[in-house]
Amino acid sequence: MTPESYVRQIIPTGCTAGDVGTGEAPANLALVKYWGKRDTRLNLPVTSSLSISLGKLGTRTRLTPRPGGDDLVLLNDEPVAPESAFAGRLGAFLDLLAPSRPRLCIDTHNTIPTAAGLASSASGYAALVLALDDLYGWQLPRPLLSRLARLGSGSACRSLWPGFVLWQAGKREDGQDCQAEPLPEHWPDLRIGVLTLHHERKPISSREAMHRTVADSTLYQVWPEQVASDLREMREALAAKDFPRLGQIAETNALTMHATMLGCQPPVLYWQPETVATLHRIWELRRNGQQVFTTMDAGPNVKLLFLADSQESIRQAFPAMRLVSPFQDS
Ligand code: PMV
Repeated sequence: MTPESYVRQIIPTGCTAGDVGTGEAPANLALVKYWGKRDTRLNLPVTSSLSISLGKLGTRTRLTPRPGGDDLVLLNDEPVAPESAFAGRLGAFLDLLAPSRPRLCIDTHNTIPTAAGLASSASGYAALVLALDDLYGWQLPRPLLSRLARLGSGSACRSLWPGFVLWQAGKREDGQDCQAEPLPEHWPDLRIGVLTLHHERKPISSREAMHRTVADSTLYQVWPEQVASDLREMREALAAKDFPRLGQIAETNALTMHATMLGCQPPVLYWQPETVATLHRIWELRRNGQQVFTTMDAGPNVKLLFLADSQESIRQAFPAMRLVSPFQDS
């Protein structure tokens, strides 16, 4: 199935662009990661994954037609070069979803500081799909918008809801059972700390690293089974509000994901010396009785998981940490 025919099965025909469309979506952090695709064109994952949305940290996007003009991308009020990879990907995604669209002003604001070490592509594509839905009046339900956002960036399909979200990998080759859904659990005391350790551009994109891991790494063979068990246990930990269990599963899952990358030749290693030092610091705090765990994505930065009652001691240990309260910041 081509992305074009996939999209045609979802989007209603006969809608025309209005004067303006807006959308807003949160960033999300995976507690059980998505790593590896079974179909690269439709962004179908090998496994399901589970995330937490980050409250008001995310993206706001406004689309307005520019009759007679070219596309204009504004990121946090600054024009983006039309020949940049970023503008190119956005334009191609819009062309895929709305092939006869007018040229647009794509005015997008990230409420995630760019250097915060949190991916903005998930909230970016989710906000863009919501803005298109609004511009064209498609009135698609969220699960279908999730299926569309997935085409921009896999993890974007989880950014259509607040709170905990499960992305079902599905089984169908046409991808029409591959979408996210919100989970009922609410955990107001949950805290996330973001440690930005390294500002340089990552040497290899998550897309490329994922592709190489699936193709090259014999360690990837353990991943699907590990995720199946982590998801089962994570659902139990959420239902029981068992924080140490949540933290341990999330941490082991992230470390295993990074281990699969090391099995590539040449290896993919996102960690920097500061990453390793921070991991040792977290484990030392844990040995001293603090309930603090970590998760990491395709980059050198570290996210901390802890509960509200340890907030002050964790802040003392990591003064540069940016604090996120996922259920209170929305
Ligand atoms: O959605 P992508 O293509 O940016 O990949 C995201 C991959 C991870 O962030 C490492 C894991 C995840 O589940 O978000």
